[in-house]
Amino acid sequence: MRKMIIAGNWKMNKTVDEAINLINELKPLVATDAAEVVFCPPTIALMAAVEAAKGSNISIGAQNMYYEESGAYTGETAPNMLTSIGVKYVIIGHSERREYFGETNDTVNKKVHKAIEHGLIPIMCCGETLEQRKQDITIDFVNQQIKVGLLDVSKEDAKKVVVAYEPIWAIGTGVTASSEQAEEVCAAIRATLTEVYDTDTAEAIRIQYGGSVGAGNAAELFAMPNIDGGLVGGASLKADFGKVVNYK
Ligand code: 13P
Repeated sequence: MRKMIIAGNWKMNKTVDEAINLINELKPLVATDAAEVVFCPPTIALMAAVEAAKGSNISIGAQNMYYEESGAYTGETAPNMLTSIGVKYVIIGHSERREYFGETNDTVNKKVHKAIEHGLIPIMCCGETLEQRKQDITIDFVNQQIKVGLLDVSKEDAKKVVVAYEPIWAIGTGVTASSEQAEEVCAAIRATLTEVYDTDTAEAIRIQYGGSVGAGNAAELFAMPNIDGGLVGGASLKADFGKVVNYK
């Protein structure tokens, strides 16, 4: 039985003080055993966020990391910098990283390997553009992202990975994929995972949906058989996130 996992991707929002305040405000609202709850604040606020979340059910995740151990990579964050302060998860290959910062399936794969090597749980993102959906190539495109992203990742390690399906046209637009559209792609992802690994592995991997998830649509989306939670942007920055986490 897969445990639901609901994560908030704060993107480039909140200073350190604001992050602490938001965690303190949300802490009582997201207290549940029914789902894993992850907050992903900006890098600069990670350390304070780990402190602020202590004693609660909230785990902290980073929004990105680099795939080298250390060295001349100006502006980047190494995996052991994250683990050394108590970060547990890391979002990898978000569509905004792919669109604005040149990330590819190949860099995603390198980061997934490196995160696992350091005991970080990757939240590996995938998702199609509106044009790709219109051309009816969504499933092929997303499956390719999954296959390359997980290339040479063992069965045992793959079970730890969380996949986030985020159609780009639904991100920050207020236009959510219908629960049927989201389920169709998440089921296709699980079929691909079965093909690449086996049923046991595919059934163990959690697949989140992301893209304009909010208090009003979480229950319907999260009730789908192949959707195991959400990666939430805008709605994770306010009290509404408590309703998303307690969607039932
Ligand atoms: P929104 O929930 O704001 O659409 O963002 C989704 C997202 O990109 C989460 O990673």
